[in-house]
Amino acid sequence: MYYSDEIIEQVRAANPVVDVIGQYVQLQKKGANYFGLCPFHNEKSPSFSVSPSKQMYYCFGCGAGGNVLTFIMEYENYTFQEAVKTLADRAGIALPEEEYTPERQKEKDLRTQLMTMHKDAAVFYVHSLKRPEGAPGLAYLRKRGISDEMIRSFGLGYAGSRPDTLYRYLKQKGYSDEILRESGLVTFREKGVTDKFWNRVMFPIMDANSRVIGFGGRVMGSGEPKYLNSPETRIFDKSRNLYGLNAARRSREKYMLVCEGYMDVITLHQYGFTNAVASLGTAFTSQHGMLLKRYTDEVILTFDSDDAGQKAAIRAIPVLKEAGLKIRVLNMSPHKDPDEFLRALGPEEYRKRIEKAENSFLFEIRVLKKDYDFSDPEDKAAFFNETARRIAGFSNEIERNTYAEAVSSLYGISYNVLKEQISIIGNQGPLRTAAEENTRPKSSVKKLRSAEYGLKEAEKLILTDICTDPALFAKISKILASDDFSEGLGRETADIVFKQLEAGKPDPAKVLDHFIDTDQYREVSELFASSYADTLSEEEHAQALKEAVLRVRNQSLDRKINVCTDPNELMELLREKKELADIRPDFLS
Ligand code: GTP
Ligand code: MN
Repeated sequence: MYYSDEIIEQVRAANPVVDVIGQYVQLQKKGANYFGLCPFHNEKSPSFSVSPSKQMYYCFGCGAGGNVLTFIMEYENYTFQEAVKTLADRAGIALPEEEYTPERQKEKDLRTQLMTMHKDAAVFYVHSLKRPEGAPGLAYLRKRGISDEMIRSFGLGYAGSRPDTLYRYLKQKGYSDEILRESGLVTFREKGVTDKFWNRVMFPIMDANSRVIGFGGRVMGSGEPKYLNSPETRIFDKSRNLYGLNAARRSREKYMLVCEGYMDVITLHQYGFTNAVASLGTAFTSQHGMLLKRYTDEVILTFDSDDAGQKAAIRAIPVLKEAGLKIRVLNMSPHKDPDEFLRALGPEEYRKRIEKAENSFLFEIRVLKKDYDFSDPEDKAAFFNETARRIAGFSNEIERNTYAEAVSSLYGISYNVLKEQISIIGNQGPLRTAAEENTRPKSSVKKLRSAEYGLKEAEKLILTDICTDPALFAKISKILASDDFSEGLGRETADIVFKQLEAGKPDPAKVLDHFIDTDQYREVSELFASSYADTLSEEEHAQALKEAVLRVRNQSLDRKINVCTDPNELMELLREKKELADIRPDFLS
């Protein structure tokens, strides 16, 4: 759903940043701002600031920053639309309804009906578990050591032994056979209709927003199949959902634990690892990768220790890597899966294994090694060739070197020989570009960096100051236009802020509505949170601002002079540069 700027602004205005963040973080007033412990990283002294005048927050420790909408996006791991909706609800603002074509409307109605039906079914199974007839289910879950709290929070239930109770319940609720047929919860046969699930403990499968979209049912004890899962329907796509994600997305942990089974997820959560998810009994897909990437940058695979689990990990690694996730692999031996491991050795031991989780590349090499017999020289050489080939695949030289080093020490081969082999392979392939990139002299790169850094700091100080004290804007805008800011986010931001100030009033929080991509709004928030502003004396601050204005303008003129081809224009630019050099020192007073 696309919301208009007006609506977004209305929602933002109705949710003062201090009030909203104050519900999550304990804030204390200090001068014009509020401070608290940053919810986005671990810290002992508060470096997380919330500014009522700018309607923004910024953490001087980790760089997290944004407005009230981005706060909800980051804290709850919501999309922009979800955050708008949440804050609209909080303020009692009715959002406009999307308009659909008749087909889209029908599709949407069907989905809504299926979701409601699944919720009804989940409630039905939960009640069955609590009734006397649910005793075998409850006994089974207890025997597996699942706590009452987990039974409740995962919504576990029970499908009894009569084969059509759910069907009759849903019929009585008014669902038509047509929609029941689509749900996969019942089976229509010539002889009649039966429930898909009976005599099983039931695991509702929820999407990231905690809506029930399917079920897994486990036999109590032995029996085939061990797990029965809902078929895919128009609301249940196994390649786009993960078990436990609705809870795991709220975890503050930097990584997610990815395991294979429902039971594993529940046990992990029970022992405090609330960042655990599992696939829905299928292989990992690129959509799973992208889904995970929305919530985390790092994944720790905690797949079964047997051959099948190891093979599944080998298959999952490239797929998840493709999404840009960093991956490590956790070793649970001598136990089979997280459930068994935790019950046998407890959470402390498991946490140690998390810390020791192996880099996914070294894991792949270790598994590869099993196919080669080192007592046979030919085999040994073949293993190293294959390893060299894989290392040559990294585009980054530092990475190639560290992996070469690790492999040489782990498997006893000379580092130099391995390196040479890697570079032979690399030179044949398309890996030249990365090497070429590294030929730029280091010192000039460093210099460039520091000049860029200084310019960025200068731009930050200007933006921060003109928003805090709009009276400065009249003076600064005589010297500086927004297109003097460096290309990219800096200029885009300055453009918006300058327009706001020309119209009378700065609104930094509104600027962020133009940048809803995480990296962008972080960077933009940083532009409004120059740390100079707080650490300098008044005099130093005034001096720093003057220098910043001159620097930004001067560099802008230099850039223009560099690309100018028109002699008249060039004369004019040089004249402006001279004028700038001769500017009166009190130009901001
Ligand atoms: P427990 O044996 O109860 O501890 O379950 P588990 O979670 O350890 O299961 P296991 O490791 O055997 O399987 C992992 C996942 O694969 C399960 O959570 C299911 O999603 C899926 N799975 C297992 N067995 C079956 C089956 O018989 N049929 C289907 N469709 N999926 C299964
Ligand atoms: Mn298990």
